[in-house]
Amino acid sequence: MTALDLSSPVAVVGTGTMGQGIAQVALVAGHPVRLHDAVPGRAAEAAAAIGARLDRLVEKDRLTGAERDAARARLKPAESIADLADCALVVEAVLERLDVKQQLFRELEDVVADDCLLATNTSSLSVSAIGGALRNPGRFVGLHFFNPAPLLPLVEVVSGFGTDVTSATRAYETARAWGKTPVACADTPGFIVNRIARPFYAEAFAVYESQGADPATIDAVLRESGGFKMGAFELTDLIGQDVNESVTHSVWQSFFQDVRFTPSLAQRRLVESGRLGRKSGQGWYDYRDGADRPEPHTAEPAQPPAYVVAEGGLGPAADLLPMIREAGIEVRDEDEDNGTRLVLPSGGQLVLADGQTSVEFRDVVYFDLALDYRKATRVALSASQDTSPRTLAEATGLFQALGKKVSVIGDVPGMIVARAVARIVDLAYDAVAKGVATEEDIDTAMRLGVNYPLGPFEWSRRLGRGWAYALLDDLHLRDPSGRYAPSLALYRHAYATDKGEGSTS
Ligand SMILES: NC(=O)c1ccc[n+]([C@@H]2O[C@H](COP(=O)([O-])OP(=O)(O)OC[C@H]3O[C@@H](n4cnc5c(N)ncnc54)[C@H](O)[C@@H]3O)[C@@H](O)[C@H]2O)c1
Repeated sequence: MTALDLSSPVAVVGTGTMGQGIAQVALVAGHPVRLHDAVPGRAAEAAAAIGARLDRLVEKDRLTGAERDAARARLKPAESIADLADCALVVEAVLERLDVKQQLFRELEDVVADDCLLATNTSSLSVSAIGGALRNPGRFVGLHFFNPAPLLPLVEVVSGFGTDVTSATRAYETARAWGKTPVACADTPGFIVNRIARPFYAEAFAVYESQGADPATIDAVLRESGGFKMGAFELTDLIGQDVNESVTHSVWQSFFQDVRFTPSLAQRRLVESGRLGRKSGQGWYDYRDGADRPEPHTAEPAQPPAYVVAEGGLGPAADLLPMIREAGIEVRDEDEDNGTRLVLPSGGQLVLADGQTSVEFRDVVYFDLALDYRKATRVALSASQDTSPRTLAEATGLFQALGKKVSVIGDVPGMIVARAVARIVDLAYDAVAKGVATEEDIDTAMRLGVNYPLGPFEWSRRLGRGWAYALLDDLHLRDPSGRYAPSLALYRHAYATDKGEGSTS
């Protein structure tokens, strides 16, 4: 099954933000494109807006003048649904309401040919539910583009309950022919990206709600240590708190209020108060003229320790040992323990975040996971009231000697980056086990859809088998609500031997 022929007309119904972007993609790929909108005149306005965008592509040398003129000639507003009769693909991008979409597809089915592919760009409705209204749901598929569609490469190709394999393949190949990177996924709440990304926001909000740290500090740690392009607070301010919360709410409801997807009360209050982010002038941060941007917590300079005792190789933080030596600090090895801790001259311990709290131990400082300790510019430390000031000062001085800024947060088990990554990894293993998508497609989707520095499986392989499971198991013990309960899939992965994994016996 191949992509649609470029001579086949493509229709886009609903010519708002997404419809215009999708139409531009199909048009630039070479198809004749018809635009239809329920509001009279809006399709013509959309055609003019797309034409103006093509002009800008010419100015940027991404399109020749002749290509632009040809594309413009292929773009036509359609007054009625009946004008879409000869289209080979209709992509719907109307209001996000099940009854509206079902009604539209019923009308379309009466007009288009039997082999016309029908696609929805829904981000939160069930593809099976929309397709269920059709006489032939076999030709119905989800084609989930990301905003702005002309720029973002990812397209989730969603197969509903009734979708034929040939239709899904055709949609997949067509998206690829349009220069996109398609990933195949089953029809589940949030598809791939909006399902697996939930903990990135939820855990940051949870740290804030537990008084562990303020938004500016959490964002700085996610960026500078976790390697994420933006922190959860600044990113949701950009997306819109109402939009982000509604996705979280819809995924949570669709999973029958699964506690792993519980929305945040703090975000609810923010939305209720009208602080929707940049678009309303205030969200987690204040964007009004003259408003100050709060600084992340950064510790004052402290004296580095003269030496540390390494008990074990530090696991995912192993890079720290040569870095400490390079900084001129002696590392005394004590190899009898396979642990992930450093003992400081104070007698206190410095331990990689593991899902336990520092109050459980006599004198412990936790440090957060970094994507790459060499490249990280900031590292978070967590201490409890039982941590001695000397241990905290030595831990602070140690990371400062490695050129890092240090943010001291409260006694938060799993800290900031570690707990978010562990939960993302868990949801990814769970999704594969439930047939949502392949490991490769999930990694691709998370890198391209939300810009993660690594896909969850790449990250998990780096961290080592069992790391995410152990952290979540510890967190689950301390918060037995079920929110942190590791999935059976992650458990299986943690305990499978390399030989046994993948075998069915
Ligand atoms: N905005 C995003 O970031 C984004 C990303 C991915 C998917 N989506 C999904 O894309 C769809 C459209 O979102 P949007 O942001 O472009 O919305 P939008 O409000 O910008 O545009 C919707 C358009 O659909 C038209 N419309 C409404 N009902 C119609 C009908 N029955 N027939 C024809 N036209 C109709 C409206 O007049 C409007 O022009 C939604 O399903 C949304 O969930 C949005």
